[in-house]
This record gives sequence, structure tokens and C-alpha cells, in this order.
Amino acid sequence: MKNYNKIGFSEPFKAASHVSSTRAADQSQTKPTSVEYQQILDKLKAEFDEKWRNKGGPSTSDVNDFERFRTLGTGSFGRVVLTKHKSTGRFYAMKILEKNRIMKLKQLEHTLYEKNILMSLNFPFVVCMEFCFKDNSYLYFVMPFVNGGEMFTHLRRKHKFEENLSRFYAAQVVLSLEYLHHLDLIYRDLKPENILIDCEGYLKITDFGFCKLVKGRTWTLCGTPEYLAPEIILSKGYGKTADWWSFGVLVYEMSAGYPPFYAQDPMKIYEKIVSGKYRFAPHFSTELKDFLRNMLQVDLSRRYGNLRGGIHDIRSHRWFKDINWLNIYNRKVEAPFKPICKNPGDTSNFDVYDEEPLRVASRDMFAKEFEEF
Ligand SMILES: Nc1ncnc2c1ncn2[C@@H]1O[C@H](COP(=O)(O)OP(=O)(O)O)[C@@H](O)[C@H]1O
Ligand SMILES: [Mg+2]
Repeated sequence: MKNYNKIGFSEPFKAASHVSSTRAADQSQTKPTSVEYQQILDKLKAEFDEKWRNKGGPSTSDVNDFERFRTLGTGSFGRVVLTKHKSTGRFYAMKILEKNRIMKLKQLEHTLYEKNILMSLNFPFVVCMEFCFKDNSYLYFVMPFVNGGEMFTHLRRKHKFEENLSRFYAAQVVLSLEYLHHLDLIYRDLKPENILIDCEGYLKITDFGFCKLVKGRTWTLCGTPEYLAPEIILSKGYGKTADWWSFGVLVYEMSAGYPPFYAQDPMKIYEKIVSGKYRFAPHFSTELKDFLRNMLQVDLSRRYGNLRGGIHDIRSHRWFKDINWLNIYNRKVEAPFKPICKNPGDTSNFDVYDEEPLRVASRDMFAKEFEEF
């Protein structure tokens, strides 16, 4: 059973969203480990900026171009369904969002962001969007289907990951966050449910529903309780370093099989997070413990990713000493684990959900609000 729920359907702290960053954040320059990789990042940023200016480009295709199969996942605003593009025969995951629910839960701004961001991204460990369109009742995001399933499923099946596997995944998340932060995006919803594994055993981060273009700080309370950074809970205003906290929680959960701050009641979780007290699993290596101490650091002036060395502190930590970052980026490293994927449309790595037919209204709902979609 998934025990995490998203929060942040209202935006109580959204007073000012473009205030200059803290001094510590100013110092978080990305120190390149190689000139070559910095050039790659700069090129990807130019590409993103161009697409972003065009709002990701025009809508393409429509729902009748796709044959629909079963549900792969459900969320607060709709569901994700396996589909096949009728003319090419390619499989896609179609995220179907109900306009009505988006409006009720005050997620209009987040959803428009999600579309523009998904249309503009291009990175090996991040999903992309090939088509998007709308009808009278729904919005449709169509992404290549990642058939290995959620990291969540594999983590619960294996109970925990060997440190070597955690590290292989962590390296890809580091590169992905570095990429997103280089584009001035904060991801804000890192957790095993939002990380997919492809048939080669590499990751694809999905769900950009809370991702936002932020230069400096923002105040919106959103994320998932177990993964929230202390500065978000304390409504202090936060920046990219909140993602590095969540990354610490993820590395802990992958390696232990359970998250570092846990309770039934979200308020108790928040108390634990803010206190910064947690215990290492007995089998954690010395390097992993040292790494987590630096990531799960309540004091922002001491958290890795937010110091003078920026991401360099993370990449050059002893826990990552055997990682060749460029080889990971180029997918040249053999994955320690590959999910069983029988064919491109195999859904056996996904849980089964109740199905519900789409009900398209006869008039265009919230036409004005979703005009730019
Ligand atoms: N490209 C994809 N390929 C395969 N499954 C996907 C894909 N995108 C999303 N999913 C599945 O759908 C679930 C819900 O999608 P997500 O974007 O996380 O929605 P929500 O915002 O409701 O959490 C994911 O956790 C995952 O299981
Ligand atoms: Mg999700």
C-alpha cells in the first residue's frame, strides 16, 4: 500500500514568489566536474529556454488517435492509462486530468506549468511529453510508456536496495536534479512513486505537477509529508535546496526500505523532520552515513548542495567514489538490476486499478481558464 499523500492543494503561503535568494543559496554555484559536461548542460538549457518561450509548442493529435488499455496509476487529479498510438503502434502513458478537479483543488497554475515544463524537457533520466491536447472535460499528457514500473514497486518487493543499486539510482537523480536546477526548476515531489525504471534498468523521473520555474525562493506548501524539507514545513521560504533534502530522504529510503522520518500522523512526521532526528539502519556503510548526515541537514548553511562547492560536494563525496558521471549520463554503465519487461506494452510491473470510463461533457468546461493549454 502506498502511504504517501500529496499535499499542497491550496496555496496558503504564496504571497511573494520572486524574492531574492538567501546568501547560502547564492553560493550554490554548480561547480563543473568537467568542462565537457558543463557544455552539455548549457546546451540543454538553451534548448529548454527556447521551447519554454514557445510554451512547449502547439497541441498535437487528439484522443481518438490512441487506443486505450488499462490504468497504470491514479492520482489526485485523474489517472494515467496505457495507450497505443494507432498510426505508429508505439505505446504511451496518457495522463488524463479532469479540468473540474483541477479547478476545485486550485491547481490551475500548477497544471499549466506541468504542461509547459513537460513539453520543454529533454534529459536521459526524465520523462518527456510527445503529445498533449484537451477536450471539453479533460487535459491529456502523452508520454512514452516506461514499462519497468515504479521504483516504489521494486523497493517494496525487494524490501530494500543493496547500496550499490541505491548509488546507481542516486547518481541518476543527482544528474537529473542538477539538470532541472540548471534550468531554474525546482522539482518538489521526489519520491519512489514518481520514479520509473525502464527496461534497461535506468530511471525516468515523472510527475512534474509541482515543478516550478523559480529564481530564488518560493513559499508554496506542497510535496509529500515524508519528503518535505524542514524549511518548507516551517514556511520560511525555500529554494532548490529543498530538493536536496528530499534526495537525502530518497537515498535513505532506498537503502533502508523505509523513510527516515515516519509516523501515522503527518503532524508527528513534521515534528520529526524539523527536529532533524533519525536513526541509520544498522547495515548502512560509513560512507553512506556520512553522506546522509550532510544531505539530511536541517541547517541550510551546512546542507550539501547549498554550500560553496554546490553540487560538486555531492558528486565528489566518498559514497560516490566509484561513479563515473559521464558514463552514467551516457548510459554506458550496466544497470545492477533490470526489471522483467516482456514487450514494449507489458503492464505486469504496474499495480491494477479500478477502471472508470471517461465522461466528456457536451460543453467546454472552464474554456477561458484553460485557454492557453
Ligand atoms: N511515462 C510513464 N510511463 C509509465 N507509467 C507512468 C508514466 N507516467 C506516469 N506513470 C504512472 O502513473 C502514476 C501517476 O502519474 P503521476 O504523473 O505521478 O501523477 P500524480 O500527479 O497524480 O501523482 C505514476 O506514479 C506512474 O506509476
Ligand atoms: Mg505522482
